[in-house]
Amino acid sequence: MKVLGIETSCDETAVAVVEDGRSVLANLISSQVDLHARYGGVVPELASRAHVQAINPLMAEALERAGCRFTDIDGVAVTVGPGLVGALLVGMAAAKAVALATGADLIGVNHLEGHIYANFLEHGPPEPPYVCLVVSGGHTMLVHMPQEHRYEVLGQTVDDAAGEAFDKIARFMGLGFPGGPALDRLARQGNPDAIAFPRAMVDSGDYDFSLSGLKTAVLRYVKAEVAAGRRPDPADLAASFQEAIVDVQVSKTVAAALERGVSTVLLGGGVVANTRLRERMEKAGAEAGLRVLFPSMELCTDNAAMIACAGASRLARGERSALDVAVDPGLELAS
Ligand code: KG4
Ligand code: ZN
Repeated sequence: MKVLGIETSCDETAVAVVEDGRSVLANLISSQVDLHARYGGVVPELASRAHVQAINPLMAEALERAGCRFTDIDGVAVTVGPGLVGALLVGMAAAKAVALATGADLIGVNHLEGHIYANFLEHGPPEPPYVCLVVSGGHTMLVHMPQEHRYEVLGQTVDDAAGEAFDKIARFMGLGFPGGPALDRLARQGNPDAIAFPRAMVDSGDYDFSLSGLKTAVLRYVKAEVAAGRRPDPADLAASFQEAIVDVQVSKTVAAALERGVSTVLLGGGVVANTRLRERMEKAGAEAGLRVLFPSMELCTDNAAMIACAGASRLARGERSALDVAVDPGLELAS
């Protein structure tokens, strides 16, 4: 079964062809980073227009790379939400057109489910249950999955998402947009214990997160240092900030897995590309007797292979979306 995956929820136009829910035959991304960089963030209207320009040539190229034609496609999986409404609509219109023209089955996929299912592309589906940490530019949440496609949200951020915090601090430090990857690189040369930033809600006894206090703490620290005539070392600052985020995520994820009696932990979302988070999660998982899985770097950030993978799994269960399915910018992970 060949599934065409389409993802346009934010600032990447992505198209993939995945066979049997597992083999990635093509996985293309047309990035809009340069377009939005000068504004320091994603401009929704510009994103929609860029998706319109990119989507058709990208679909043609993906099919060519995969060595197939539109008529070889059995299913079309498309991100239905959450995301920017105008951006989602472009991918959805393309997916419906392909499904209508070829008779392929249409399936709408939750973007967050896609991030979780990115793990299955490389590892195959592990035996449920799982606890999943989903950390991206728009989300930070812990989810219990008693079985495939069943979600119980254990906790989430009460303010900023982790990726948002990385991007804001990176911007403050002049590291550009999106800043997560640049901050990660800089942090590798710094001392994570140099500055003791707060670990918000680490002992709150629940699975919620808060990141806006950390952001303020970093700004205050730099202000105070500059006022005292000192210049904080950027690498130490990056490493200490990153460590405060990673510390809380690792400890809450392990606690959730142990409390739920789950032995498999899945990590998903752009922030999982963070080298320190991967390293610390792997170590903590090994110590706690947990199997910790995360996608390869290119499958952590937004891509269409993960959408095709999650869609293939739903299609295999007999699920289909109607041709009039609507996008849902505020879509949540539901059972
Ligand atoms: O999942 P994603 O590609 O898009 C959303 O669904 O939001 O996540 C993007 C976020 C951005 O905030 C980006 O800065 C962050 O993931 N990110 C990272 C790293 N790579 C990407 N954050 C920290 N370290 C990284 N290496
Ligand atoms: Zn994402």
